[in-house]
Amino acid sequence: MATTQTQPFVSDIKEIRRRAREHLEEGARTTNYEGNVDTTLKLLNDALATEVVCVLRYTFHYVSAVGIQSEAVKAEFGAHAREEQEHEMRLAERINQLGGKPNFNPEGLLSRSASQYVEGSNLVDMIRENLVAERIAVETYRDMIRYFANHDPTTRRLLEDLLSKEEEHANDMHDLLVAHQGKPMLDS
Ligand SMILES: [Fe+2]
Ligand SMILES: [Fe+2]
Repeated sequence: MATTQTQPFVSDIKEIRRRAREHLEEGARTTNYEGNVDTTLKLLNDALATEVVCVLRYTFHYVSAVGIQSEAVKAEFGAHAREEQEHEMRLAERINQLGGKPNFNPEGLLSRSASQYVEGSNLVDMIRENLVAERIAVETYRDMIRYFANHDPTTRRLLEDLLSKEEEHANDMHDLLVAHQGKPMLDS
């Protein structure tokens, strides 16, 4: 079958070998990185701040949820806190791989984060605030994935992974909200 590919795949291996030796200080970041590294690092650090705020909020909710009716919700908050921490670590590792510095500075954390830190005054409030935060995370990751497209496939795949987890989290919070408010929020 004839191929529709018109451009042959050409890689100047000699030149690639020369460049690979030239900038060892840049680690995994090679000269054909197509994105703007500074923009990538800024976006990843903002996402990192979002995850840190999510860890803090879920941890607070996990500790604060008391009473027999809250047991299942409490367990869910705890599980999400651990998963958000895993996201935080993966983003920090990627920032480091790209030659950047993960920003864990608590100063200015909330202004870098897309999600907010809202305590909530009762269990339903807490669930609702987490659902709001998850929806914010879903929307920002979806935008970032579109932005990275094919320029930085490793970062895009990482974000796709995180997006699918945040969608699960949003769904978990939605289910809990329905269970605790006693009415469905979606038509079906
Ligand atoms: Fe997350
Ligand atoms: Fe999440």
